[in-house]
Amino acid sequence: MKILVVGSGGREHAIIKKLKESARVSEIFALPGNGGMAKDATLVPIGAKEIDRIVAYAKENAIDYAVVAPDDPLVLGCVDALNAVGIPCFGPEAKAAIIEGSKVFSKNLMKKYGIPTAEYEVFDNPEDALRYLESAPIPTVVKADGLALGKGVIIATTREMAIAAVHDIMEDKVFGASGNRIVIEEFLEGPEVSVLSFTDGKTVVPMVSSMDHKRALDGDEGLNTGGMGTIAPNPYYTDALAAECMERIFLPTVRAMEKEGRTFKGCLYFGLMITKDGPKVIEYNCRFGDPETQVVLPLLESDLLTIMEATTNGTLTEDMVRFSKGAACCVVMASEGYPGKYETGFEITLPDEGLVYVAGAKLADGKLLTAGGRVLGAVSAADTLEKAIEGAYALTEKIHFANAYCRKDIGKRALAAKEVK
Ligand code: AMP
Ligand code: GLY
Repeated sequence: MKILVVGSGGREHAIIKKLKESARVSEIFALPGNGGMAKDATLVPIGAKEIDRIVAYAKENAIDYAVVAPDDPLVLGCVDALNAVGIPCFGPEAKAAIIEGSKVFSKNLMKKYGIPTAEYEVFDNPEDALRYLESAPIPTVVKADGLALGKGVIIATTREMAIAAVHDIMEDKVFGASGNRIVIEEFLEGPEVSVLSFTDGKTVVPMVSSMDHKRALDGDEGLNTGGMGTIAPNPYYTDALAAECMERIFLPTVRAMEKEGRTFKGCLYFGLMITKDGPKVIEYNCRFGDPETQVVLPLLESDLLTIMEATTNGTLTEDMVRFSKGAACCVVMASEGYPGKYETGFEITLPDEGLVYVAGAKLADGKLLTAGGRVLGAVSAADTLEKAIEGAYALTEKIHFANAYCRKDIGKRALAAKEVK
């Protein structure tokens, strides 16, 4: 089968490498992909948001199945457009991708169906928002309604910060039209757990849980990033919690979407916080997480293409999805300075062995050069978390490029939590 994968990051590289293991896959096209994937896929210079060009390319090249990985094309209706010309896809239609595309939609959905989440108010003008903030409990959380490259959430630890966030988002439009409406919500505390799941719209099968490390510096200090590393499974996510989440969050969400006439097929990502009052939804994503995918897929023992097709066809069953009992760790190697200013264009040397998912790189004259903030993920899977962490850091030692930076403590908190349990 000829498979097309829309997207360009480390997540897409992990999906492509997993799909390559399938005997039924003959060729993979990455639109646009990145230079670091050239060994695994045919790179096609069409951007992930160029829906018309993606559809035309898929038709011309007789693509059998498409995987739309990033949020933007999903929210823009890439799956709808490919389906319209008869190409089956992994991923939700636009009307279901709204679960990530609009925070107002997802909060109202949770309220309507009694799914546990932070208390919230919605505002469509700055005056009402500012009036509300005069007496709102602090800290508080201000969120732009629409997509904002993962930056639309401000945790305001003072009233002044919250007020500034409203001005920035609603008046100065720092996130464009995504800030026409905002959600102001209750600040929650507790460990965070990411649970990606496969769903065909009725059945939901969770993947192994994971933990992201969003801050730039060791000890969870510094600015928020797109993710500096991940581990799986997440030790805070006990079997009892998993059962509770299935009953109170996962199934109710999938059923709610179906009831609303927005049947969700693909990967539904649950960003959870384990509060003292139980698990609550922090966010939904309509896609695989990045860099969670880089630790989840290496632990998947079943055939990814078969599972993906089952989500499309409505034939998903639990026994199709098998994970190994082991653990995995992904250490992101970034360009020094990220998420602020950084230089690119440095040559990357990679070892022959080891699992490396490339995110921000390009090919020039046969050389692989850095081309982004997060350059790649060094990944190791092993029978224990300790060994996986050791393996991932050992791999980073064999990867070289100028101005490379990585956190030194990926998985440290997870190991400590394991000891307490
Ligand atoms: P999001 O973009 O929705 O994933 O939010 C980014 C991060 O902000 C989350 O991973 C949490 O760490 C934090 N966050 C979001 N909402 C809340 C909340 N209500 N209380 C505390 N932290 C939050
Ligand atoms: N790692 C969080 C996300 O993919 O949005």
